[in-house]
Amino acid sequence: MTNVAVIGAQWGDEGKGKVVDWLASRADVVVRYQGGHNAGHTLVVGKETYKLSLLPSGLVRGKLGVIGNGVVIDPEALLSEIARVQAQGLSVTPETLRIADNAVLILPMHGALDRAREGARGDRKIGTTGRGIGPAYEDKVARRAIRVADLAEPETLDAKLDELLRHHNTLLASLGAPIFEKAAVLARLLELAPSILQYAEPVWERLDGLRKGGKRILFEGAQAVMLDVDHGTYPYVTSSNTVAATAASGAGIGPQAVGFVLGIAKAYTTRVGSGPFPSELHDDIGKGLGARGHEFGTVTGRPRRCGWFDAAMVRQAVKVGGIQGLALTKLDVLDGLAELKICTGYRIRGELVSHLPAAPGAQAAAEPIYETMEGWSGSSRGAKSWADLPAQAVKYVRRIEELTEAPVTLVSTSPERDDTIMVRDPFQD
Ligand code: IMP
Repeated sequence: MTNVAVIGAQWGDEGKGKVVDWLASRADVVVRYQGGHNAGHTLVVGKETYKLSLLPSGLVRGKLGVIGNGVVIDPEALLSEIARVQAQGLSVTPETLRIADNAVLILPMHGALDRAREGARGDRKIGTTGRGIGPAYEDKVARRAIRVADLAEPETLDAKLDELLRHHNTLLASLGAPIFEKAAVLARLLELAPSILQYAEPVWERLDGLRKGGKRILFEGAQAVMLDVDHGTYPYVTSSNTVAATAASGAGIGPQAVGFVLGIAKAYTTRVGSGPFPSELHDDIGKGLGARGHEFGTVTGRPRRCGWFDAAMVRQAVKVGGIQGLALTKLDVLDGLAELKICTGYRIRGELVSHLPAAPGAQAAAEPIYETMEGWSGSSRGAKSWADLPAQAVKYVRRIEELTEAPVTLVSTSPERDDTIMVRDPFQD
């Protein structure tokens, strides 16, 4: 028995919510370790649909949820998400939710700066969620961030806000955006402090105890490898490391505790925001995938860009992300297509290349090299075993395994939790 880390293998929105929910029902604790409320996980449980951004998905299954130090926490967003799911009948208490006392806070000036900078970028926009993720991580690395534990020390808050506002107000003013008054920010933080502090603790200590007690830990990644700040399509990425190694540093646990790394990949590709997307489809097939796959962002509602499965990109994600098995989602969205294409590499300025290079000009110039496969006329929707799948759909999955150099350990065939083909139980690895 091992722990499991779940990470996205493309550009996010791979359907991690369903897989995490399914695994969470068999875990003892679910840990978020990077990102913030830029993430969006939709969980369908019976008649209720839960939309989670910051809360670990395991809470829906009554499991302990932990928000690790690697997460950037907007206290307003956290408290309103807690209130929203509580109104849906979910129990969120200091017994079921623990938050790292050394996690960094997202404050109102972070969102303001994020949006003002995007506005100033014109057609070079990153397409951020506008939630202040980048500016909050910048403050963490610059050693001026306000952290959860600071909420217990009004004098620390006061002093840190001086430095923080000197920095942010200068930037905001230069972008023509309104600046922030210290007294108002401080008063609001002190007002929110007790509601947040009731969940705070050194979570690394609790995780150490749980691990020694043989409990199963599920590490719930947000975003995806191709949005990783080092390994993704920089600068069109998020501001955290999304590879599985981050589960260790972002939770305060050793790398050996991370366990089996499950990568989630959609049976085709989508992306929100700007940036390179070699296998993007601008035709009716792309529109059809978007319509059948309900491809709209959970957080922003933006329509997602759609394209063919990019095996070269997923192979890269498998290698840098440490992915040991793939969960393939939304296979049913491909039902009825006469022909399918898989991107196996790129042609960049006349040269054949097997991976997305680091330079943005080369990324933008990457033209996909496709392999074409016959589609299937039968339905894969709701399949629970290989035998339920059309023969061509099985061939498609097998080809993905070969090209990505990763075994497919799960296939999801509908949004319903039980419509899943389990090849191998990741916890038993
Ligand atoms: P940020 O994380 O808000 O700074 O946005 C940076 C990039 O990451 C943008 O392209 C966003 O669309 C993308 N992004 C952030 N979170 C998610 C997510 O949960 N799913 C998909 N894309 C995301």
